[in-house]
Amino acid sequence: MSTSRRPLIAGNWKMNGLKKDAKQLASQLAKRMINNKKLAFDMVVCPPTPLLGLVVETLKGSGVKMGSQDSHQATSGAHTGDSSPQLLKNIGCAYAIVGHSERRTDHGEDDKCVKAKAESAIEAGMVAIICIGETLKQRKSGRAISTNRKQLLGSLPEGASAKNTVIAYEPVWAIGTGEVATPAQAQEIHAAIRAELVKAIGAKEASKMRILYGGSMKPSNAKELIALPDVDGGLIGGASLKAPDFWAIAEAAS
Ligand code: PGA
Repeated sequence: MSTSRRPLIAGNWKMNGLKKDAKQLASQLAKRMINNKKLAFDMVVCPPTPLLGLVVETLKGSGVKMGSQDSHQATSGAHTGDSSPQLLKNIGCAYAIVGHSERRTDHGEDDKCVKAKAESAIEAGMVAIICIGETLKQRKSGRAISTNRKQLLGSLPEGASAKNTVIAYEPVWAIGTGEVATPAQAQEIHAAIRAELVKAIGAKEASKMRILYGGSMKPSNAKELIALPDVDGGLIGGASLKAPDFWAIAEAAS
């Protein structure tokens, strides 16, 4: 982590929890945030869509931000089951995760779709968190860097800046598996992503853009990962469901 970039600690709750769980988790994080206002990180939680209204009310005034786990590319229309970026922003989302590997797999989202979603989310006033990452097969065949480069360039929105875009490097083989990238593996890919960003958006914006690591991040490995020069926080799944664990990860970043 460079001192010029403020770390972002993002919790991806995925399809977990009921109303009572969301309320409890959000209020525990809000309390901690209010009592520790001076900590130098940004925090965002991304609950399941039906819980967004409840969570935004619970987080009110705490400084913990809310994000969506996905955001449709269209502004409105005949898209059953989807939510428009305008609605997500309107309900209180400051961030939108797009292109998570589970969406790429479960819903067949490709880079072109992810790019369109990121552009619409930004247009609506949210910060797009764009996920990329290689599979184990791609890593084993020596294609980790090229896969991430291709996904990054294919998914990066027009007009991407450090203010409207965050990149999350999430090796697919590390998501929910307990297997975490080694610091050397993480730094290698993060540095490659930043080098690609330099070419795509210029050195100044690239040096300010946050690149998160995601994939089995937990309190015991967060410090080492976030201390790496090009790792600027985390996108955390499993460990974001317990307030003490998620908070401990955030503290590791400050
Ligand atoms: P995990 O998930 O922390 O449970 O590995 C990360 C993610 O998918 O964003």
